[in-house]
Amino acid sequence: MAIRVVHSEYLKEIDKARRDLRALISWKISARFMLRLAWHDAGTYDVNTKTGGPNGSIRNEEEYTHGSNNGLKIAIDFCEDIKVKHPKITYADLYQLAGVVAVEVTGGPTIDFVPGRKDSKISPKEGRLPNATKGVPHLRDIFYRMGLSDKDIVALSGGHTLGRAHPERSGFDGPWTKEPLKFDNSFFVELLKGESEGLLKLSTDKALLEDPEFHRYVELYAKDEDAFFRDYAVSHNKLSELGFTPGSSGCRAVVKDGTVLAQSGFAVAVAVAVVVLTYLYEVRKKMK
Ligand code: HEM
Repeated sequence: MAIRVVHSEYLKEIDKARRDLRALISWKISARFMLRLAWHDAGTYDVNTKTGGPNGSIRNEEEYTHGSNNGLKIAIDFCEDIKVKHPKITYADLYQLAGVVAVEVTGGPTIDFVPGRKDSKISPKEGRLPNATKGVPHLRDIFYRMGLSDKDIVALSGGHTLGRAHPERSGFDGPWTKEPLKFDNSFFVELLKGESEGLLKLSTDKALLEDPEFHRYVELYAKDEDAFFRDYAVSHNKLSELGFTPGSSGCRAVVKDGTVLAQSGFAVAVAVAVVVLTYLYEVRKKMK
């Protein structure tokens, strides 16, 4: 469970935006775009220089025009509609919330979401996201640079349970699974089956079978969807919080399993005082 400090008014807006995103995703724009948007905003993080990451910078023209972000402008524009309704929310929070909601509404695990990210106008140079034509060492280079682990690499690759590739965007074509609108463990099941007609396998997907450390997670997630959901929720939460540090004033927000519980510092102090005074009163009563 994560604990961060943000204003209670902000938390109310987050809750409203979450509802609007659910409606938007089930009505106007597919979840797959939102998940890819959240991942591409966060996946530029560099743990050494503390640059990039989930900071909303993908909205900058300079960044959404990177080749790897082809096709994401549509998701950015749909998020803008939510931003207009909830202007207090940062783009950084909005895109990560959209990713969490996308997984949730397509049948995936609930991912803890903690608001409070700051927006940045500074975009990283092109080339921080993975190249789909490469293999094991490249995957490790890219994800270790973010500060993520082998387990995170495999669990997060399961995000390809949703969506498809488009020749005009990436040069690749087709979905990874037979039900690309559903978040489940079928990415790993299909991966273990080998080539199947009509289904896509990128070099970076196949790399998960080549390395023994990666392979054991592929085996586990293919046979145990609960294990995949558990690990995915943790890895996605890590991805969504790369380089994100708590705010400094206002209310203490505890966000667990998608439920936002807010208490102001004053309310916490009053609650503690009431408990202590009640205890002292009881003790005195017993002593009389
Ligand atoms: C491991 C390295 C990864 C590589 C090399 C990679 C590469 C790609 C490529 C080439 C596409 C096709 C884009 C298009 O033509 O429209 C794609 C789509 C997608 N990726 Fe990844 N990806 C990676 C990791 C991830 C992760 C970690 C997630 C989320 C957790 C993710 C989520 C998605 C989704 C949802 C789509 C489908 C988008 C749509 O249907 O329009 N990917 N990815």
